[in-house]
Parts: sequence; C-alpha cells; structure tokens
Amino acid sequence: MSFAKDARAGLTASPKTLPAKYFYDELGSALFEAICLLPEYYLTRAEDEILKQHAGEIVKSVGGTFDIVELGSGSALKTRHIIAAALANQPTLTYRPIDISTTALEASAESLSREFPALKVSGVAADYFEGLKRISRESDGRRLALFLGSNVGNFEPHVAIAVLRELRGVLAPGDALLLGADLRKDRSVLEAAYDDPLGVTASFNLNVLARINRELGGEFDLDQFDHLARYDEPNGRMEMHLVSRQAQTVRVNALELEVKFAEGETIHTESSYKYDKPTLRALAAGGGFDLVHTWTDSAKRFSSSLLRAV
Ligand code: AVI
Repeated sequence: MSFAKDARAGLTASPKTLPAKYFYDELGSALFEAICLLPEYYLTRAEDEILKQHAGEIVKSVGGTFDIVELGSGSALKTRHIIAAALANQPTLTYRPIDISTTALEASAESLSREFPALKVSGVAADYFEGLKRISRESDGRRLALFLGSNVGNFEPHVAIAVLRELRGVLAPGDALLLGADLRKDRSVLEAAYDDPLGVTASFNLNVLARINRELGGEFDLDQFDHLARYDEPNGRMEMHLVSRQAQTVRVNALELEVKFAEGETIHTESSYKYDKPTLRALAAGGGFDLVHTWTDSAKRFSSSLLRAV
C-alpha cells in the first residue's frame, strides 16, 4: 500500500494509527541514527557488544561457507562484525541487504564495499515482504539471514511470525537466522529509552506528521501534538503515540480529508515488542526454526539468537 492509502486508512480508523514504516524517510532515518547514539537508547550498543564479542562463535555455529541476507540493514554498522568474521573463513561473500530506505542502502553499500573488497553487495530497496519476494530461493550456497536491531519487535507477534516464515521461504533446511530482540525489563529503563531528554525520539515520532505535511499536503501544526512513550507491561510492548493537545481539525489536502481530533486523542505510531525466553522460542517455532543458542550483553538487556531452519 502507498503512503497516501495507509495514511487515509490510519487517520480515519478508531483508534487512529499510522504504520511505523513511514518514519523512515531521509530525515527520519537520520533521526533514527541519532537515537542509536543516545545514552538512554541502550539497544544498539548492547547488540553491538554481543556481536563484537561473539561474531566468531556465531559464524562457527552457522558452519561452512554462506551468503548473507539482511532484513532492515540501516547503516549496517553491527553487520560489520559478522561480515568480518565470515570473511576470515571464506574468500568472498555475497551480502544482500533489504531496506525500505534507499539512502541508508546506498550509504552502507558504499562504505562496506570500501571496507571489505572481497564483499559483493547487492541491495534491495523494499519493505521486507516485497524484498524477500525479490530474493529467489534458488541460491546455490547456504545462507545466513540477519534480522537485527530489534526490528522484529516493530511487528505484532503474529506478523513477526509471518515475516519469519517468509524469511524461512528463502532459506533451505539447515540455513541459519541471527535474530536480535530486545528483552523485557523494568518500565523505567524502557520508557527512558523511548522518551529521551534531548527530544530526539519525540522529533522522530513527530516527523511522521511532518512527512504527511511534506508529501501529502497535510496541515498538521506540530506544536499541537505531544510525544508519548509508554510500556504496556501485560503485552510486553513499548508504544509510541502522538497526543492531540486540543480539539482540532486537520486538513490533508492530497487526500481531500479533514481529520478531527478530540483533546488528548492519540495516533498510535509504533509498537516495539520486547521478548523473553518463552516468547522467543514461540516466535522461532512459529517461523519454522529451532532456537539453537541465545547470547545476551553483559547487562542482559538485549538478545541475539541463532535459529536453524527446520
Ligand atoms: C527500529 N526499531 C527497532 C526501533 C525500536 O526500538 O523499536 C525504532 C525506535 N522507535 C523509537 N526509538 C527507536
């Protein structure tokens, strides 16, 4: 679906919602990169710590030689550890990143090729489902799929299983998947990670309204919406919302739409599911994988799991 169709569907729904994938235009991707540098947003550093420390072990567990397919690569900073470890074992490596952001794909392809001359990068600019459709299954060799950065967390659990099944479809039995998932933990740590004092996450959230203004002739006054991040503990998910500060009507010209908001009404813009051992196991099994091993960072905040396609 296009941005226009999804924005219409979400803004006329009750409760109102906008798909999180629309955060990532050029500005949104840059804001997300900034989020990853925030002291409160521990996820990126924790995963980097795990991959830096265990890349060799992970590559050994996969076994043999393989190509890499990555979902949602972003700047591919953490992927470097796996690529370096793989290239210590095999003379060349094909790397197929799938990312919604063309800007991020181009930038990472360029710097990775410079850093690793033996690496062949062939990116796919698409969302996951579309990108996986374009990567055929008739690969001659074995594959390691990477789904890092807690990107899996931005899907409802049943959709996360569907994404894993789709991914399973481009793998052969015995191929591997390295899955990065954020872990359930204290509310205060989680809420601070999604509501930083610099306001970078608030800007990232508000950018989806700014994007509607830029691309769909929206007339959102960004000062009239507040960023809200809250942990829904029973469901194990962080939620981000945009809260209307007053009763207001907003025109979106390209959609010929007037959107009415009550004071305090929210647009749900993102869910970020947090996992634990049982939910990770269920996710792996639902996707058609065995859970082989899970590594965590020293503070036990984040997990990297190696899954084997059955
Ligand atoms: C990309 N994704 C895993 C991030 C997350 O933590 O769910 C997006 C994000 N939202 C707010 N901060 C970061």
